[in-house]
This record gives sequence, C-alpha cells and structure tokens, in this order.
Amino acid sequence: MPRSTIAGIGMYVPANVVTNNDLLKYMDTSDDWIQERTGIRERRYAGRTGETTTTMGIKAAEIAIQRAGLTPQDIDFIVFATLSPDYYFPGCGVLLQRAMKMKEIGALDIRNQCSGFVYAVSVADQFIKTGMYKNILVVGAEKHSFGLDFSTRGRNVSVIFGDGAGAIVLQPTDKENKGILSTHLHSDGESAELLAMFNPGTHANHWTGEPVADFNEGEMGDMFFSHAMIDKAQVFPNMDGPAVFKKAVVKFPEVIMEALSANQLKSSDINLLIPHQANLRIAQFVQQKLGLKDEQVHNNIQKYGNTTAASVPIALCEAWEAGKIKDGDLICLAAFGSGFTWGSVLLRW
Ligand code: ACO
Repeated sequence: MPRSTIAGIGMYVPANVVTNNDLLKYMDTSDDWIQERTGIRERRYAGRTGETTTTMGIKAAEIAIQRAGLTPQDIDFIVFATLSPDYYFPGCGVLLQRAMKMKEIGALDIRNQCSGFVYAVSVADQFIKTGMYKNILVVGAEKHSFGLDFSTRGRNVSVIFGDGAGAIVLQPTDKENKGILSTHLHSDGESAELLAMFNPGTHANHWTGEPVADFNEGEMGDMFFSHAMIDKAQVFPNMDGPAVFKKAVVKFPEVIMEALSANQLKSSDINLLIPHQANLRIAQFVQQKLGLKDEQVHNNIQKYGNTTAASVPIALCEAWEAGKIKDGDLICLAAFGSGFTWGSVLLRW
C-alpha cells in the first residue's frame, strides 16, 4: 500500500490584525489577562464583507496546489474542515470546487471543530492508501469573528479565537521512510455540551437538563431559530474553559504517545510537534509532559489566536516556511477540541 505524503502546503491569514487592547473597545478584559491565561497577543479578523471561510480556504489552497506543481484541475478529491461554514448547508467544499473551477470531483465537509484538520487528513489518507485518489486537497479554515459574542458576557470565548486558513495536497508515495505513518482518532460525547454552539439547531432542548434555546412550541416553525434566542444571546458558542483545559492536557499527550508507540518510536524521536493552537498553556503542559525541548514544538497562537480547524495547517506551513522542517523529519500533528474529539497524525516529511 502506498503512503500519503504532503506534496504542497499553503496558509492564509487576513491582513486585519486585532490586538488584545483592540478588544477593550467591546468588552471588559485586559491584555495581561489574555496573555497570562492563553498566551495570545493578537489575532486576525477577516474582512466584514468579501472574505469568507471558503475564500480564505481558497487562498491557502492556491498556494498548496501551486507548491505541489499542480493546477486545480488536477485535484481529484476535496476534504474541507470547518466549524464556521459560509452556509449552514451546502458545505464549503462545493463552494471551493466551484470557485477554483475544479472538475466534478467529490467534496467532503468535516465537522470536527478543533480536531477537524487531523480528522480530515486521516480521511484523505485512507483514500490515498486504497488507491482511490491521487491528489487530495485538504483544507482547514475558519471565520470565527462573525459568530462571537463581543460583549463582556462572551469574553471567555471571544478573546481566544481568530480567523485564517491552511491547506495541503496529499499524494501517494512509494518512497521508504516518507509520508504518513499512522493516524489515530477518538471521541467522547459525554461532554458534548461543554464546548458547543447549540443554536440554530434541531435539538429542541432534548439533550440538556437546562433549556439552551427559548422557542415557541407552535405546531410548526420557530423552534430552529427564534427571536427569543437572539434576545437571550443563545446563538453564541458556550465553553466551560477549565473543564476543556483539564481534559485537553490528558488527551493530547495520550494520543501523541499512542501514535509513537504504534510506530515503535518515542517522544525524543519527534523533530517537530504541531499541536492544535488551543491555548499556549495547554501546549506548554503537553510539551512538559512529553519531555520535549522548545525546538521540538511549534506554537504560533501568540499571533493568530485559536483558528480551530485552520490552526494545525497554519502552524505546519509556517514552520515549514521558516525552515524548521527538513526531509525525513518526524512530524506529529495533534488536536483536541469540542465533542470532545481528539486525534494525531505521525508522518515523515
Ligand atoms: N478577560 C478578563 N477576565 C475574564 C475573561 C477575559 N477575557 N474571561 C473570563 N474572565 C474572568 C471570569 O469572568 C472569571 O471571573 P470571576 O472569577 O470574577 O468569576 C475569571 O476570569 C476566571 O474565569 P475562568 O473561566 O475560570 O478562567 P480560566 O482561568 O479558566 O481561564 C480560559 C479561561 C482561558 C478559557 C481557560 O479556562 C482555558 O484556556 N481553557 C481551555 C479552553 C480552551 O483552550 N479553549 C479553546 C477552544 S477549545 C480548543 O481548542 C480545545
């Protein structure tokens, strides 16, 4: 069976830099609080108009495809990961396919939030290994800035997130010692509501003891999205930050060790770990737990905030562009997020 290898990589972040101090206009927070708890100094916000999750994904994809020596018409499958799609449906994959004038290829949308890119790579890897596709475009992109609560009420969530996109082209390789060695995916839905955006949705308050949506129980309509939901600010993400933190610092190291032991490797063999940029404190905890040196981990949350499905490809691309990744290096991608879902990808560059 061939292995999948990254033939091209690209990233895009919007030009608009939003510092912690810029957020003081909207909410009661401080640069000190944000930096101390999350490590974030600034993030990027997409243009209010003219820039969408898909258009950012396209910009990253154009670079990845060009670096792979291909054209958009050579791509034979798309996997697009995001939690902030342009439309509720259809997904961003088909919008990208249309805008990039690709052939009538399959386009799959992945909804695994912070683990979205790792899940997307794993799915693409299976298609490459079976020989079904030869040039798969995998995109992670987010436009968080449109869906956050910018009042003080939402500050524990809104200061964390930023916009951006990353993309790779996966291809088969027969080369020994190159490509994806293994991928590992997990979930635990017990805590699904601890990091979630409930509305609009079809849940009808089924899963939670406390109602998470106010609606009129009429015979038809008004349950998916109601004026009361807007008035009561029920249309924003919810997060129990400390609970997410506690689970993340256990599952990140676990799934990295799972990948290493599946390949008879140890943490000192890792040349570069690219953790999902959830929070710098989480990444530092993981680094310490695995005994990794600073040069073995690439973090950039300081500049971009948490870009969810885009964070791993943006960090991987940035590290590669900075010359931190060489042929044959052992690279580990790892993510944890809403669901909870988590996963890892171990590869030889
Ligand atoms: N500015 C100032 N004060 C704030 C802010 C803010 N932006 N946000 C919350 N606070 C206040 C709270 O109101 C609270 O005040 P109180 O004590 O008077 O009630 C106090 O700070 C502490 O609130 P906590 O939520 O307990 O703060 P904590 O120390 O846990 O830090 C944080 C919050 C940063 C979210 C932390 O829990 C965390 O990093 N959790 C991990 C979650 C995470 O990384 N999520 C990212 C998305 S998910 C993912 O990618 C895995």
